Amino acid sequence: MGVYVMPILRNSLVILITTLALAGTYSVSAENATSSRSPHALEQMVRQDCGSCHGLTFKGGLGSPLLPESLAAYSVEDLTTIILDGLPGTAMPPWRAIVTPDEATWMARYLKTGEPE
Ligand code: HEC
Repeated sequence: MGVYVMPILRNSLVILITTLALAGTYSVSAENATSSRSPHALEQMVRQDCGSCHGLTFKGGLGSPLLPESLAAYSVEDLTTIILDGLPGTAMPPWRAIVTPDEATWMARYLKTGEPE
């Protein structure tokens, strides 16, 4: 009996583990590649997720102010990089796994202008 059960069990485990690994890979790459949030969703995200640290009106909290005048020294490219990679060694987290580069650029423009394009 055991002679017949063990290979089946082993195969099932291999299939299970492969499925889990593929599912994990798929969801991560799907998030990176295909996420396309609407401007409204992105605006909500900036206000809520970024606002939780930077202040709901971006005047600063745990994080520094994110008002257009506070960010004048940064280009849209600089801000996009900060959003994607965070600021290592600080509480500013990287968002690369959550937003696409295009979405980060949208957020950077949004912050620079204080309103959606
Ligand atoms: C967990 C808290 C936290 C969250 C969430 C967060 N930040 Fe930050 N962020 C910080 C902190 C703290 C700093 C200041 C780091 C330092 O220089 O000491 C910072 C710095 C920044 C800076 C640089 C500002 C400057 O004047 O140098 C930008 C731009 C920025 N964050 C944008 C964002 C955006 C956009 C989001 C949302 C996608 C976000 N942050 C979410 C904590 C956070």
